[in-house]
Amino acid sequence: MSNALVDGNLLGIEGMTATEIEEILDLTDIFAEISQRPIPKVPALRGRTIATLFFENSTRTRLSFDTAARRLSADTMTFGAGSSSLSKGESLRDTVEVIEAYGADALIVRHPMAGTAQRIANWTDAVVINAGDGCHEHPTQALLDAYTLRQHCGSLNGLRIALVGDIDHSRVARSNVLAFTALGAKVTLVAPATLLPSSLAGWPVEVSHDLNAVLEQTDVCYLLRLQHERISEGLIPSVREYVNDFGMNEKRANLLPSEAIICHPGPTNRGVEIDAAVAADPRAVILDQVANGVSVRMAVLFLLLGAGRDLIESPTAEGNK
Ligand code: NCD
Repeated sequence: MSNALVDGNLLGIEGMTATEIEEILDLTDIFAEISQRPIPKVPALRGRTIATLFFENSTRTRLSFDTAARRLSADTMTFGAGSSSLSKGESLRDTVEVIEAYGADALIVRHPMAGTAQRIANWTDAVVINAGDGCHEHPTQALLDAYTLRQHCGSLNGLRIALVGDIDHSRVARSNVLAFTALGAKVTLVAPATLLPSSLAGWPVEVSHDLNAVLEQTDVCYLLRLQHERISEGLIPSVREYVNDFGMNEKRANLLPSEAIICHPGPTNRGVEIDAAVAADPRAVILDQVANGVSVRMAVLFLLLGAGRDLIESPTAEGNK
């Protein structure tokens, strides 16, 4: 098992080595193959219960964890903050204890406050997976992005990646910088100064405020949404001016090398950070990122919950009956 996962949780990319990340990506190949089968299901986690606890909205992350758990034959439990007893004043800790008492073996946690997945991990013996904590980390997004880049570009070593947009409020940016640079990529952050962290000490990146100047030397253009829910002051003069300087339109996409790819973690705001025509460009691999999210999360769940179990059974095995 990967050392980074030995304490039984996946809380962030921080602290993971290239070898550990690659081990997860290699395992993902196997689950990607299973996902292509007519019946994409194996009995690997039969009898295990996986709970999703989302205190923030999500489409992709929640659905893909849920799909991954089902493809591994685990039982699933869904907690949604809006419809729970939180609205009656119940604490986070009580909520976690209740879900544990129902027999959850793993808690997949999304929360607006940085550090919440770690706090929950301190309270429970169940496996905790961070599905996004405030502006801090979103490790499975970074793993699925690294997998997608490996799929399209062969290797991340030496790859020139531009991360464009609201870096400061993006947990995806933090986790991706850590994962991409660990795997040997050269990352340039492209953003107005107001959307960059106040200190980049310890970030192994270059910085540019000029998107047009960067595009010609870019193999992967990774666009980020303006995280309005986490922006409390006027950090950009107006959305129109932001789009003018940092929006990816067809003209800018034409500056990219022809073999470059365009990524976005979703949800996209068409006409802001990415134009509809660019999202439809064959170089945009946004739906590959979505599909790979399921396979990567299967690999992570199997690593954390499948110790001692048979990895894969053939398509004729029980899960496919
Ligand atoms: C991201 C998130 O929630 O951090 N989305 C995702 O998980 N696919 C990025 C975003 O919301 O912009």
